[in-house]
Amino acid sequence: MKSLQLLSFLLLSCIITPANTHGGKKKEALGSQSQHTRAKKDQQNSETKFRLYTDKTEESCQIFWNQLETLDKCGFNASLPLVMIVHGWSVDGILESWIWKMAAALKSQHKQMNVIIADWLTSAHQHYPIAVQNTRYIGQEIADFLEWLEESIQFSRSNAHLIGYSLGAHVSGFAGSYISGTNKIGRITGLDPAGPLFEGMSPTDRLSPDDANFVDAIHTFTKQHMGLSVGIKQPVAHFDFYPNGGTFQPGCHIMHVYNHIAQYGITGITQTVKCAHERSVHLFIDSLLHNDKQSTAYWCNDINTFEKGMCLSCRKNRCNTLGYNIREERLPKSRRLFLKTRAHMPFKVYHYQFKIHFINEIQGKQIDPTFTISLTGSKEDAKNLPITVVEGINGNKTYSFLITLDTDIGDLIMIKLKWEATAVWENIWDTVQTIIPWTKGTRRPGLIVKTIRVKAGETQQKMTFCSQSINNLHLHPAQEKTFVRCEDRFQRQNSK
Ligand SMILES: *[C@@H]1O[C@H](CO)[C@@H](O)[C@H](O)[C@H]1NC(C)=O
Ligand SMILES: *[C@@H]1O[C@H](CO)[C@@H](O)[C@H](O)[C@H]1NC(C)=O
Repeated sequence: MKSLQLLSFLLLSCIITPANTHGGKKKEALGSQSQHTRAKKDQQNSETKFRLYTDKTEESCQIFWNQLETLDKCGFNASLPLVMIVHGWSVDGILESWIWKMAAALKSQHKQMNVIIADWLTSAHQHYPIAVQNTRYIGQEIADFLEWLEESIQFSRSNAHLIGYSLGAHVSGFAGSYISGTNKIGRITGLDPAGPLFEGMSPTDRLSPDDANFVDAIHTFTKQHMGLSVGIKQPVAHFDFYPNGGTFQPGCHIMHVYNHIAQYGITGITQTVKCAHERSVHLFIDSLLHNDKQSTAYWCNDINTFEKGMCLSCRKNRCNTLGYNIREERLPKSRRLFLKTRAHMPFKVYHYQFKIHFINEIQGKQIDPTFTISLTGSKEDAKNLPITVVEGINGNKTYSFLITLDTDIGDLIMIKLKWEATAVWENIWDTVQTIIPWTKGTRRPGLIVKTIRVKAGETQQKMTFCSQSINNLHLHPAQEKTFVRCEDRFQRQNSK
């Protein structure tokens, strides 16, 4: 834990302390919107290089603003949509490898588009606060570029989709708000939009839903340290996705950190601290590469409620698809969507809510059992999935759990519920049996589980499973009970 804190500290200090000391330049004055009055006459000296991706590995062709012939030369096709990739703050002043992966993924799945990399490295490779100030300036340049495309070759801004990572998300937001006229850019996607100096700012000072016809954001590294988080926590879009709660990501843990450092030496540190931040990018690339593995996310108040499985509804826009293939629905208020993912591509998991009604026969005594569940599906099985009862089991009540599966098991046919008993438990249970007078005959008091109700998030299917042994509904430590699909009275009562 100490090491993790140290790494986070390193990350934050490299964000906040100078990366290099030259190059603050004249743009430092562009700190706020009112000061933002850059004249169009210096367009020729654009800080941003617009590189059209040319299908070839890590190659691009630069389009020069106000030089129409470069559009032709590079092969820009005005009748196709444009996706513009906007990178973030730069530590080493080179284009990071994810940019090329993203460009290739866009082209491979959707060949019919122009992909431009907005290279603003010279302004991004600065002290973090200066790079932050530069985001407005670069946003204006992108806005000017899109206006030029519109005036010169009638390319409609509504056909443009900006994908901005980290600081690039806010650059895209500024491009959207600075573009002149009433029409907006088609779509902006913010990939873990940067937090420091943007969190809590007014919508005009960061990426916000007003910046495009449709705005989506994926938040992957909002874990707080010293009051700051690398990615912005607050919603900034029409749909804000928080994979695994958005704070941190699976596969980015300390064990992996050590492996990474062992593999890459000290530069492994930057790779590793970026792991959760950059996960947003790879989730998006995943959505392009795996058409058959699109991840669904669900509207929920918070991650704790989500982890009880209580938010798996798709009614009335409550769920949406993460990444490129999102359903573009403009809602008056930002919607926070949650999902679980795997630690690597394809990231998709299948979400299930399990509602189990327990009657605890030992009245007045709370118990904290550990259960595992095994599922038989029409395609595959899933064995020994742990379920944790957070609040303990008391009296006569329904408990709700979230279970996620890495694979599609098909239709759920049968459930086995096992009470994982420890030796201690067996003991207590035997003691209870001997001291409680109302245990008649040979029957031990236990937990009664009659039915299990299941909702599958991905298919929205609801099912009820009944205990196979109708004459003995009791579950005791170390015992396993089988549940099969049954006529569903509960569901019909519920839907009334
Ligand atoms: C531009 O794209 C359209 C639509 O795919 C295609 O018909 C046309 O030939 C392309 N133009 C050029 C110059 O490649
Ligand atoms: C459990 O609660 C339900 C509804 O509150 C009630 O109908 C049922 O009799 C209770 N069962 C037991 C064993 O207490």
